[in-house]
Amino acid sequence: MQNIKLHDKSFELFLAEKDIHLAIKELGKKIQADYKDLNPIFIGVLNGSFLFIADLIRQFEGNCEVSFLRMSSYIGTKSSENIKTLIGLNENLKDRHVIIVEDIVDTGNTIENLFELISKEEPASLKVSTLLFKPDVYKKDIPIDYVAINVGNEFLVGYGLDYDGLGRNLKDIYVINS
Ligand code: IMP
Ligand code: MG
Repeated sequence: MQNIKLHDKSFELFLAEKDIHLAIKELGKKIQADYKDLNPIFIGVLNGSFLFIADLIRQFEGNCEVSFLRMSSYIGTKSSENIKTLIGLNENLKDRHVIIVEDIVDTGNTIENLFELISKEEPASLKVSTLLFKPDVYKKDIPIDYVAINVGNEFLVGYGLDYDGLGRNLKDIYVINS
């Protein structure tokens, strides 16, 4: 399918399934080389990372663990406070080698929050892996260590990424028509 419609917007093909898989394979090799004897724990950020993490960890040969979490935000006692917490993380991360697995890093707000919250668990090491990275939009200092594909500033859907809930099941990645 070259063109699709989700809700009120139309999208065109941007990255084909086979190119996504090739990029993940390359990234998997790097992670394999860096972590092969470290029993890393991959932590997928829900919902967007579920397909990416499934393909990424199957490139890893050796012991590893997998877990998932979700970020929740709520407004604190002052209306200006937007407090973030982690939900669903049951593993003890102290002294573990942790790799956060994201679908996409855009401005970096989400990953900065996550990084701070997970750092408090005192892991032995903490790195970030993402399927897609928007380097021109990224505004933070946290290193994005493992990037499968760099992209521009366009809005993308498919392969886990959604537009208002739709599109996560698409095998390819699509870009919004301007
Ligand atoms: P950030 O906090 O600005 O880095 O944005 C991170 C979150 O925004 C991602 O985890 C996605 O859920 C969402 N997001 C950012 N860019 C896109 C996109 O192009 N398509 C779909 N979701 C996106
Ligand atoms: Mg996300």
